[in-house]
Amino acid sequence: MELQVYVDGKWYPKSEAKVSVFDHGLLYGDGVFEGIRAYNNLIFKLKEHLDRLYETAHTIMLEIPMSKEEMTKAVVETLQTNGLSNAYIRLVVTRGTGDLGLDPRKCKRATVIIITDKIVLYPDELYKNGLEIITVPTVRNLPEALNPQLKTLNYLNNIMAKIEATNAGYQEAIMLNFQGYVAECTGDNIFLVKKGELATPPAYLGALKGITRNAIIEIASAQKLSFKERILTRHDLFNAEEVFLTGTAAEIIPAVKIDGRVIASGKPGQTTLRLMKAFHQLTKSDGVRYKA
Ligand SMILES: Cc1ncc(COP(=O)(O)O)c(C=O)c1O
Repeated sequence: MELQVYVDGKWYPKSEAKVSVFDHGLLYGDGVFEGIRAYNNLIFKLKEHLDRLYETAHTIMLEIPMSKEEMTKAVVETLQTNGLSNAYIRLVVTRGTGDLGLDPRKCKRATVIIITDKIVLYPDELYKNGLEIITVPTVRNLPEALNPQLKTLNYLNNIMAKIEATNAGYQEAIMLNFQGYVAECTGDNIFLVKKGELATPPAYLGALKGITRNAIIEIASAQKLSFKERILTRHDLFNAEEVFLTGTAAEIIPAVKIDGRVIASGKPGQTTLRLMKAFHQLTKSDGVRYKA
């Protein structure tokens, strides 16, 4: 059976799931989204993802036409319709159908889309041996222009960075903020380990408050691993003992070379490996359960 996609309360085969060409999500990137994972019939941190989705929608004054409970039910039903125990879930809420002007008030009702599918971001080999990444010229959006803490459909800032990385032959990019401090990657947060301490840039310097980032912070606290949110420069990354990236799609992936500099031994570090293991353990217990 073809994959079924939820659009505004109904399920359509993937080839027939559509939105209007007048949808402001398409015309202007006006909308919000989440990327979520289900592991063995458990939707990992669904509550946290929905909280972020509804907060972003609130800030851009987009009314999501269903409650969080109704959204949870729709996500579960979409997984069940597709018989998926393990999945990547893309939840999209666009401003809806309007006219050719910007004015969001012309869009009478937001469009809700739920896609459940599989995702493989990087080959297994890179989780074992680590990624090589580079810093790119495009800086992260200014918080008072388009706040990086908003997970909106407006992703061109990140896409520009991704293009610069892939043009140079790399799969992922480090984005600095407008002051030259490390912000995050195109779709992942970044951490380093130095002298037994874990560190990541504070979100206000230009990073999304990643759900995986928060999970790692929780795990560090449970493991009594010292942790700080602090300003990081490229110099800090180059001279770290370990660097890794976190995100729902990527999960946790070590970075072993940055801008041509080998990080420590050039191999994934012990703390990274320990956190990867603990993270996979957490995905077995923290979330919303459903029957396949
Ligand atoms: C720009 C950006 N940073 C970080 C992340 C990681 O966030 P999370 O762990 O919630 O997936 C994402 C995920 O989509 C992202 O788009």
